[in-house]
Amino acid sequence: MSSPKTFSVGIISGSQRAMRVAPQVAAFVLEAIEAHRESLPPSATTASARAITFDHIDVGTLNLPLFDEPGLPAEIHSPAEYAHAHTREWAARVAALDAFIFVSPQYNWGIPAGLKNAIDYLYHEWRGKPAVIVTYGGHGGGKCAEQLRTVLGGGLRMRVVEPAVCLSFPSREVVGRATRGEDLELWSRRRQGQADGGANGLGLWSDRRGDIVEAWEALVKLLETKE
Ligand SMILES: Cc1cc2nc3c(=O)[nH]c(=O)nc-3n(C[C@H](O)[C@H](O)[C@H](O)COP(=O)(O)O)c2cc1C
Repeated sequence: MSSPKTFSVGIISGSQRAMRVAPQVAAFVLEAIEAHRESLPPSATTASARAITFDHIDVGTLNLPLFDEPGLPAEIHSPAEYAHAHTREWAARVAALDAFIFVSPQYNWGIPAGLKNAIDYLYHEWRGKPAVIVTYGGHGGGKCAEQLRTVLGGGLRMRVVEPAVCLSFPSREVVGRATRGEDLELWSRRRQGQADGGANGLGLWSDRRGDIVEAWEALVKLLETKE
């Protein structure tokens, strides 16, 4: 019997500001998923227990120019067909992945321009693949999550897990710290092992780990079923 396919999942942090917190939030999401996967019994045969590799994609270091392809991505069926080397490289990276977790801040009630730009470069590399949306902001970034749902689910025909996970900053003070790119003391296993366990004992959003795991399990279910 052949062994089950190993899945590759891209976790995309959608901010390109120099002082961003997006990679911290993506690391928190990934750690919650990994802790859950490690808690599964060794006998577990679910897809979630399988070997899964993660590719952390940071929009802030992709260095993609503003969209500059001459053609319509929807009419391009192989990464080699794009005009520019930066697009071919980006397309090959996305084409190699089976599913995605989009971790994005909300900017002015919408999707950050850098993330939208990176999304718009491609089409078939996204199409039909499962996606989880995680947003954050003063009120959880729900407006950005709605827009991402429209773009990914409608425009690109991705299979988007419902509901999105929207993580709220608890105060204006925390929004300020996030904007300055400071350590938000999010839950992590390293922090859990420390005496104080982070600012509030467990770390910001530790109570949302269950929602992340639920979204993850829904994503894995979609991975098991082809469109
Ligand atoms: C251009 C811009 C627009 C923003 N708009 C919103 C917004 O609509 N809602 C919100 O809750 N926070 C908003 N913020 C505050 C962000 O939640 C906060 O700066 C956060 O740290 C951004 O994520 P990042 O550090 O990963 O870029 C905005 C921040 C910036 C820089």
